[in-house]
Amino acid sequence: MEAVFNAIQKSAKRIKEAIDTKDVGYSASQNSSGETQLELDIKCDMIIEEEFSKIEAVNTIASEEKEKENILHEDGRYFIAYDPLDGSSLIDVNLSVGSIFGIYDKGFGANRLVAAAYVVYGPRVEMVFAKDDVRLYLLQNGEFEFVKSVTLKEKGKLMAPGGTQQHWANYHKSMIDGFFKEGYRLRYSGGMVPDLHQILLKGGGLFSYPGTTDKPKGKLRRLFEVFPFAYVYTKAGGYATDGKNDILSLGFDGIHDTTPCFFGSKYETDRVKEVYSQNG
Ligand code: AHG
Ligand code: MN
Ligand code: MN
Repeated sequence: MEAVFNAIQKSAKRIKEAIDTKDVGYSASQNSSGETQLELDIKCDMIIEEEFSKIEAVNTIASEEKEKENILHEDGRYFIAYDPLDGSSLIDVNLSVGSIFGIYDKGFGANRLVAAAYVVYGPRVEMVFAKDDVRLYLLQNGEFEFVKSVTLKEKGKLMAPGGTQQHWANYHKSMIDGFFKEGYRLRYSGGMVPDLHQILLKGGGLFSYPGTTDKPKGKLRRLFEVFPFAYVYTKAGGYATDGKNDILSLGFDGIHDTTPCFFGSKYETDRVKEVYSQNG
């Protein structure tokens, strides 16, 4: 696991460099979710693949930018699913982006997660690594330095409501309105990494990306995005649900499968479960 952790750090440093120097034109290709890839998406994907190729313990990788999984070392135990550059469409307006990693043992699946990590490329580069607990690291003078362990409070103050409102279910809209009436403040950039990072570090709140009339299974991808963040939030003392079930109990149907998702502290996610068990 140490080797995987090191490979993630090396990748993050190289990706930061690529973000700072690479031009951000669109490529001619689309990824498996039908989105046009940026040259930078492809470059970051390559960097991560290169770094994991050097680690014997990594059996198979699956990337948001690759159609199929890729076997690297048949005797390795870890299966790693990653989103090399989440929120890449925010690069050209200079908002924060991230990389997300789910580290699975002997096969993919939420119940096989043994660690998860993400990196935020913002004014500073930070990494959060969750295994037994959740740890924050800051890139300083070329090295990731441990800053602190992170835990969520029972109840937070921030609300990051994703998805297109026009397509929200009425009960979802009432639930979100209800939180705002209680005094929650809107914090939403459109990049799940900085949005979830902010809620995690400020102690709590709710990030939601529900199923909508146009996308009943939501937008966010289980293996690369949703399961890793569910692991981080759960280890930090919070919770992640698809509305009815614990995210960490869900299966998946193909590596690019999506799910509605809600991440937060206890108070807010309890409300989600209550509302969604009575509706939908
Ligand atoms: P990606 O850039 O890897 O395709 O994913 C972006 C994700 C996520 O970061 C964000 O929460 C969500 O897409 C926002 O999507 P919409 O703006 O389409 O709602
Ligand atoms: Mn993504
Ligand atoms: Mn991406």
